Order: sequence, then structure tokens, then C-alpha cells
Amino acid sequence: MLDTNLDIAARYIKDGKLVAIPTETVYGLGANALDPLAVAKIFELKERPSFDPLIVHIADLDQLNKLTSGPDERILKLAEKFWPGPLTIVMPKSDIVSDIVTSGLPTVGIRMPDNKVALELIKRSGCPIAAPSANKFGRISPTTAEHVRKQLPDVDYILDGGKTTVGIESTIIKLTDKGFQILRNGIITQEELEQVVPFDGNSEIDKLSAPGMLKSHYSPKKRFLIADNVSSDLDRSKAGLISFTGNLEGSFKKVINVSKANDLREYAVNMFEAMHTFEDDKEIDVIIAEPVEEQGIGKAIMDRLRKAEYNWQQE
Ligand code: TXA
Ligand code: MG
Repeated sequence: MLDTNLDIAARYIKDGKLVAIPTETVYGLGANALDPLAVAKIFELKERPSFDPLIVHIADLDQLNKLTSGPDERILKLAEKFWPGPLTIVMPKSDIVSDIVTSGLPTVGIRMPDNKVALELIKRSGCPIAAPSANKFGRISPTTAEHVRKQLPDVDYILDGGKTTVGIESTIIKLTDKGFQILRNGIITQEELEQVVPFDGNSEIDKLSAPGMLKSHYSPKKRFLIADNVSSDLDRSKAGLISFTGNLEGSFKKVINVSKANDLREYAVNMFEAMHTFEDDKEIDVIIAEPVEEQGIGKAIMDRLRKAEYNWQQE
């Protein structure tokens, strides 16, 4: 069901059902974060392994205080600067957060999305909402309600908020004694975060505390390669190019230019949509994406492209 009725969606959340929700990053598959049975349905529908914890979405700082056992001056400073917005902060959880949400970890990832529909839904539901991206596990993230319907036709309700404005998932950070570590890059960069809290680049990221950081992710059903890794004899008559600078465009069957203005933010906004479009296009057998320099937002873009390519590169 595809609709825009917030009251119905809030009723579904209260009743322990699943609602796909728009956020500024990607669509989320939401459930009452305080209802373990509802949260279990997320893992089931998404076919997500239980070791991969969920992000909890809040609408105000009251909810933050209830969800964490370690309120921290630094969290409040980060919240003031970046929330609502695409930043997830991993922090010690309180007892009301069940193990199914955090995959048994003592921490919980929390963010306040910068999307009016999402914030209003959380308010009307009267509870924080746990939501991973609304795609099947390991597949391309959804930036429109249609993308959600394509992968998760059985979701109880899809709240349509139009195309998302950021296009890639939130930056995820974890606070350590020395500062913050980045568990996932996003459009909020290390440089911006460093203006608020020091970057802890020296401590190793403990793999057990970042269980969702897999090598393969965001994966299209069709062969997907970064342009640098494409051999010159590739048959381009069935290849679609995700183009950024415009420099590679010759001879491909189809081209989607993600940014006429050479703006990395636009690449982020349009990247997953371009992947979906080529995945659905019968004339395209292989998808090629133009790489960017790994700096600032470029780090987040290359992270997504590499993970999307990972399984296909092994072929
Ligand atoms: O922008 C976003 O973050 C989107 C929207 C819907 O908010 N959500 C999203 O969720 O990308 P998901 O589940 O696709 O990715 C969340 C990642 C997972 O890889 C998970 O491992 C990590 O966050 N995560 C969640 N809680 C964590 C925790 N307590 N410790 C470490 N990593 C955590
Ligand atoms: Mg995801």
C-alpha cells in the first residue's frame, strides 16, 4: 500500500506493524523500537541477519535521554549542530532498548532524521522508530517509495514522501575516550565533525562493535563495475554508465549523468536511483559507475560503489 496518510501510518506503528518511511537519506523500514516483536518483523521482511543492529530514529531529545544510559556532553553538542540530520551516533543503550534492536551490543545507534514526514510520524506514533534502509539485505538502498515497493512489496504500509534529498545513508560515528570514530561515511564529513569533537584516528575500530560493515552491500542484480576496473574490450552496446564528469560518456548504450554541475552532493542524491534505473532496464546488462576522488563526500560515494561492485568483481 502506498499512501501519504500519517494517521494510518502511526496507527500501524502503534499496532506493531511495519511502515516504510521517507527520511532525508534513504527510505527506512520502520517499527516501534520499543516493541521487540515488531522489530523482529523487520529482520524477517528484509531477510537481514540478526547480527546487524538497527538505527533508532527519534523526534526530540527527551527520547534520546530515555534510550541511552550514558548521556554525554559531546552527544548534546553534536546533536545541536547536526540534528535533525544525517548523523547516527552510537552510544551506550538503556534498559528499554532490547537486544534484538542492537544485536546484543551494549550500544545503540540513534539519529533524528531531517524529514518532516518522518518526524511527524515518530511524534504521532508516540515511540522511537527502529529502521534500517528499506531494501532486502545487501541490495540497493531505496530513495523513492517505488524503490521500496520493488523490493519489499509485502510491507504493511509505505508512506510516500517523494524522492529523498540526501540520497545516501547517514554518517555513523562512535564516541571513544579520545573522540569519535567513523563507522560509516556519509555526507556529514570527518572535517565537519572535527569542528565539534576531536577525531580519534589512532584507535583501531573494534570489528565486533561495528558488525554491519560488510564488504558487499548496495548490490544491483546486474553486473556492476567501477569504471577504473573495466577492461577496454567490454561490450558497451549493453552497458549503462553512471556518469559524473561527463568525460567517459562516449560509446555506452545509455548514460545517466548524476550531476550536471559536477557536485558530489548531487552524485550522492542520484546514485542509488541511477542504479535502480539501470537494474530495471532490459537493454542494459552491465552497469558502470564513474569513480570520484576519495575526499570529503567522495569517501562516502566510493564506499557505496566499492561495496556494490564487490561481488561482481569476483566474477
Ligand atoms: O540514513 C540511514 O542511516 C538510514 C535511514 C533509514 O535512517 N538507515 C540505515 O540503516 O542506513 P541500515 O540498517 O541500513 O544501516 C545501519 C548500520 C548497520 O550497518 C549497523 O551495523 C549500524 O548501522 N549500526 C546500528 N547500530 C549500531 C551499533 N549499536 N553499533 C555499531 N553499528 C551499528
Ligand atoms: Mg542499509
